[in-house]
Amino acid sequence: MFNYMFDSSEAIHISHPTTALSDSFVRWLAERNMFPSFLEIFYLPAGCTVRRIHTDLDHITDRASKINYIIGGEDAPMQWFEVKNAGSADTNYAPDAVRKGGTSPFLHWTRDECTLLEEVVLHGSNLVHAGIPHVVFTKTKPRIAISVVLKDITSKQRLTCEDVVSRL
Ligand SMILES: [Fe+2]
Repeated sequence: MFNYMFDSSEAIHISHPTTALSDSFVRWLAERNMFPSFLEIFYLPAGCTVRRIHTDLDHITDRASKINYIIGGEDAPMQWFEVKNAGSADTNYAPDAVRKGGTSPFLHWTRDECTLLEEVVLHGSNLVHAGIPHVVFTKTKPRIAISVVLKDITSKQRLTCEDVVSRL
């Protein structure tokens, strides 16, 4: 179903109804008091280095865990950074995944404003931290990330990675 993405030379970012997720995955989350609050798909063609280092929200937070299912990108590590000067972020706006026609703010930085903390090539299902500065630059392989935001089923709050790990 993603062949059209792999044919694209442009990056693609789409949000998708969480109803597309399998019943068994949603049940597995519910058994751990979690639900998928939204679903996005990110496609990066090979050689895509134009994205900026960013947070997924308009502030740096631990409360921004996601499950990212990765296809391709075998030579494209996800990288996490520390910001050299707190407060140096630019704010930008992405199309809102929830409110139609709306936008959601996120912070971003240039490479020289950040120090690399850690990098790892992801395959298959991964719990990732999207609340501190991060980015993926592709090299020779295109990459798809199917990305699910997790929330607590009762409080409706986003969860930290530690929260999620403690429920597995
Ligand atoms: Fe991100």
